[in-house]
Amino acid sequence: MESVLVFYTLTAAISAYLLWFWLLARNLNGPKTWPLVGSLPYLFMNRSRIHDWIAKNLHSTGAAATYQTCTIAIPFFARKAGFYTVTCHPKNIEHILRTRFDNYPKGPTWQVAFHDLLGQGIFNSDGETWLIQRKTAALEFTTRTLRQAMARWVNRTIRTRLWVILEKAAKQQTAVDLQDLLLRLTFDNICGLTFGKDPETLSPDLPENLFAIAFDSATEATLQRLLYPGFLWRLKKIFDVGAENRLRKSLQVVENYMTEALEARKEAPSDDLLSRFMKKRDSDGNLFQNSVLKRIALNFVLAGRDTSSVALSWFFWLVMNTPRVEETIICELSTVLQETRGKDTRKWIEEPLTFDEADKLIYLKAAFAETLRLYPSVPEDFKYVVSDDVLPDGTYLPAGSTVTYSIYSMGRMKNIWGEDCLEFKPERWLSDGGDRFESPKDGYKFMAFNGGPRTCLGKDLAYLQMKSVASAVLLRYRLSLVPGHRVEQKMSLTLFMKNGLRVYLSPRELVAPTKASMSA
Ligand code: HEM
Ligand SMILES: *[C@@H]1O[C@H](CO)[C@@H](O)[C@H](O)[C@H]1NC(C)=O
Ligand SMILES: *[C@@H]1O[C@H](CO)[C@@H](O)[C@H](O)[C@H]1NC(C)=O
Repeated sequence: MESVLVFYTLTAAISAYLLWFWLLARNLNGPKTWPLVGSLPYLFMNRSRIHDWIAKNLHSTGAAATYQTCTIAIPFFARKAGFYTVTCHPKNIEHILRTRFDNYPKGPTWQVAFHDLLGQGIFNSDGETWLIQRKTAALEFTTRTLRQAMARWVNRTIRTRLWVILEKAAKQQTAVDLQDLLLRLTFDNICGLTFGKDPETLSPDLPENLFAIAFDSATEATLQRLLYPGFLWRLKKIFDVGAENRLRKSLQVVENYMTEALEARKEAPSDDLLSRFMKKRDSDGNLFQNSVLKRIALNFVLAGRDTSSVALSWFFWLVMNTPRVEETIICELSTVLQETRGKDTRKWIEEPLTFDEADKLIYLKAAFAETLRLYPSVPEDFKYVVSDDVLPDGTYLPAGSTVTYSIYSMGRMKNIWGEDCLEFKPERWLSDGGDRFESPKDGYKFMAFNGGPRTCLGKDLAYLQMKSVASAVLLRYRLSLVPGHRVEQKMSLTLFMKNGLRVYLSPRELVAPTKASMSA
């Protein structure tokens, strides 16, 4: 008797919710909604191209005033009553990231999910905890010594590893997965820069490194927590099964590795970030505890690794497909290197770029900005809404909901970047004379490095690393895609290539530019 009553009450409640949900969902700006399931069918059908689907929804919706913001209805799933607000409107994004920064923190869902991996590190905290780390880190990131440290690590991984591997592949005419090599390279660099210990994952025999595997596996298991309703992973954690079991084991490996790294740095401090943080004090004037220091270091590894390597992968792919851009890059490199190293082209490929050479490569920087406009390493990002708010375009956001901003879609909007927004054109980043790199001056149009108080701290280091690697590869080789290899996006919080980037390499003939070829 009682169970029947419970059954009817539940059924009535769920039906009432679904009816209400449907009535609301009918009038939204956004993809088509059905009763019961909202936009789930389209979402599901488009699951292998989510970012393009979101971009399309942001294109096509309604009146001019509201387009570039849409609401996706997913019953039960989306936090706060089943509606996801997604925007790529520059004014809205400025409002969220800068003007009303305090109303849009990372928020509890994100922080709780990432807590086991990242603790209260800079990437995963808000308020005071975030601010003190940000201030400390911001000071360090402006120093010349940190940039020199990065240049040194990059120099080492290129000279002694990347070149060795590429040379062998070119000689034997075997294909390499460039994305895999780049992931290894940036991992070695960021570990060196962060805690002064290089795991050497980029070696000719491509070793399986326990720390790298554990770190990847922990990141992936953490991201899974965000995909499903929160109670699911909590249950799994209690019973220690599935992804949660993998997470616990991986974290153990990561923890041990970091303990060793920290001990080593305590005995012999160096110019890495961990050594620098060891000398700093928190808001109460105390030194950071060991457990906190380890989390701080892991936050930098997470922030600085995949982002750079996936950007490099998309860059190489775009350049391979755009001969005009490739020629211009080689021409710029030749001009700069002829100035610094003379006419003998063998000297150009003997050593990776010096710091000052990298600084002169304006067009190459533009090509990276252009890559990140079309393929931002972080394609969608989220913020939590603390109190009710209205966005500049009139969209209402209830307290406790999540707002997503689509960095990927921004680069693909005609009214932001013009009719040719889908074309790969580094020139849009150059000043009229073509001699300076210029970010868009008016407003929040390019958010690949985020904006406002939480702008990426590693931007300059990232450009430095990417320029060095790009030159190291392109000056020596021409790349061609392995026939039949499909370049596709992986659906994850970082824009990986799903099947990697498989290429053949053939030696490039370099010629010192003459006056005539320069003006052509
Ligand atoms: C192409 C390469 C890179 C891209 C596209 C990129 C992009 C981003 C983005 C979008 C954010 C904001 C994330 C959020 O708050 O939701 C961010 C934050 C951050 N990035 Fe980067 N990043 C890159 C490289 C690096 C590197 C190499 C480092 C370190 C050496 C780094 C350090 C950080 C840090 C510490 C933050 C957190 C800032 C804060 O929350 O206050 N990034 N980055
Ligand atoms: C993807 O979504 C759109 C609507 O946004 C829909 O027209 C299309 O049929 C969906 N499925 C596929 C496979 O593209
Ligand atoms: C790279 O390393 C080599 C060998 O240690 C050194 O001769 C060269 O000056 C370094 N280049 C840079 C840019 O640090």
